[in-house]
Amino acid sequence: MGVGAARAEGYWRGLAVSLAFMAAALIGCAEHPTEVDTRPGYRERHRPQLHFSPPAMWMNDPNGLVYHAGEYHLYYQFYPNDRVWGPMHWGHAVSRDLFHWEHLPIALAPDQHGYIFSGSAVVDHHNSSGFGTDGEPPMVAIYTYHDPERARLQTGDHESQAIAYSNDRGRSFRKYAGNPVLPNPGGKPDFRDPKVFWYEPGQQWVMALSVHDRVQFWASNNLRNWRFLSEFGQNWGGHDGTWECPDLFPIRVEGSDQLKWVLLLNLNPGGPQGGSGTQYFVGDFNGHEFTLEPRFADTLRQQPAVWLDWGRDNYAGVTWSDAPLPDHQRLFIGWMSNWDYAQQVPTEPWRSAMTLPRVLSLTEQPQGYRIRGLPAPQLDQLRGASKALPAMRLSNTRMLSEFDGLPIATSELTIEAQPQADTVFGLELSNALGERYRLGFDSASNTYFSDRSEAGDHTFSDQFARVHRAPREQHGGPIRLRLVLDVASVELFADDGLTVLTDTFFPSQPFDRITLYSEGGATELSEISLTGLRRVW
Ligand code: FRU
Repeated sequence: MGVGAARAEGYWRGLAVSLAFMAAALIGCAEHPTEVDTRPGYRERHRPQLHFSPPAMWMNDPNGLVYHAGEYHLYYQFYPNDRVWGPMHWGHAVSRDLFHWEHLPIALAPDQHGYIFSGSAVVDHHNSSGFGTDGEPPMVAIYTYHDPERARLQTGDHESQAIAYSNDRGRSFRKYAGNPVLPNPGGKPDFRDPKVFWYEPGQQWVMALSVHDRVQFWASNNLRNWRFLSEFGQNWGGHDGTWECPDLFPIRVEGSDQLKWVLLLNLNPGGPQGGSGTQYFVGDFNGHEFTLEPRFADTLRQQPAVWLDWGRDNYAGVTWSDAPLPDHQRLFIGWMSNWDYAQQVPTEPWRSAMTLPRVLSLTEQPQGYRIRGLPAPQLDQLRGASKALPAMRLSNTRMLSEFDGLPIATSELTIEAQPQADTVFGLELSNALGERYRLGFDSASNTYFSDRSEAGDHTFSDQFARVHRAPREQHGGPIRLRLVLDVASVELFADDGLTVLTDTFFPSQPFDRITLYSEGGATELSEISLTGLRRVW
């Protein structure tokens, strides 16, 4: 497809999403329940057993990710009255280990200023905002108000930034009386998703904000008054859609003292496989503006974007503030869906899950800086029975009956393989109904692939049944696949996380068998092991 056609398609998809927003605005929502439905469950068909999903109803982006007093907070875009997008609230859950979550009451509900769109949360350690009480620092949420009525009237100023604060460890929030703290300057219909962090060298707060297909940086001393710093994005990265949910953070390069800044930017549409996707930029931030690292700029002169994840189902991801990690690691979570079909997927009574929590690190490769993503190590606590197979040479197909009895549908699979030239090596997950999902590596094109075209129900959207390809970032050596399977999703962390791919699927019955295959040539397998993972719900 030519660039023009791709843009046009992107435009129509963008318009469809805006219309959905407007339709929901027209329908409106009279009452806003403050309690979430916490009836036991989590055994429904397609229900993730390791990932976070709401008990019922619609969820999209993770919001307000912050670690405080031993708890990881996960707020999220939530519509408590339906399984499709609607007037947005912030749902809330906390965890001490990133896998076992406690559902808490809705934290923020729409009011006269509009819906509560995506944003972030910080612990105001110095009480710069003055919202603290009894010497305890407040938790401050910074979010977007989306006024549905003004959106419908296309005033172009219907999104603005606001704050709310909590003095009870994020359980309840009081909205600031002076909201909005950052009004729309006018003529900016997409002005949202503030991600705020404390910039230590300048002793001030910095906000990254999505503005159509740019990101703006704003600064504040007290989280209430904001001043414009700079804008980034013209001529860089993917622009086939709207930039949403930015994140900017410092990170030390793996194995060195160098400090770099990573800018995550979610893009919809225009992702690597169509629809939603997450791109990133590596550079420097001087407290005022973000500049690209020269080699990263070179990469972007040769390719449209650098993607955090090559699958179709990792969107709106951002990172936790104050996570207890060394400064060469950053804790991330994304929404495991795609706006192309998120509102149609066949799950009931909820829709959508988050990705696994992941640790991001920045590595220096021959081709430049690249992010590595791996499951947060807390995943290891879920490990159960495990089985490893002896090394083997594979020249056709082989069903792995050795894994019978292990919970394949919720497991971690590790493979190290060396396929010959012009060989496709892969694994197939299947069930008794003949539904199958394939994932593997094509040595001729040096790409990984994920084929969900026959992996179960795809009738809900003509966007779903596709093959997704991802380039290998690692140079040479055996391929290393680490896969986390969870009933209705696969997350591939290839080559120690240098190529990551997240895809969902909806088999009518859980996949319970694994077959390996090597086509075109042979594959030497030096490691094959499967570990069952214990469900968290
Ligand atoms: C991203 C997004 C955000 C917005 C939110 C609304 O998925 O469109 O830009 O704040 O969802 O629910």
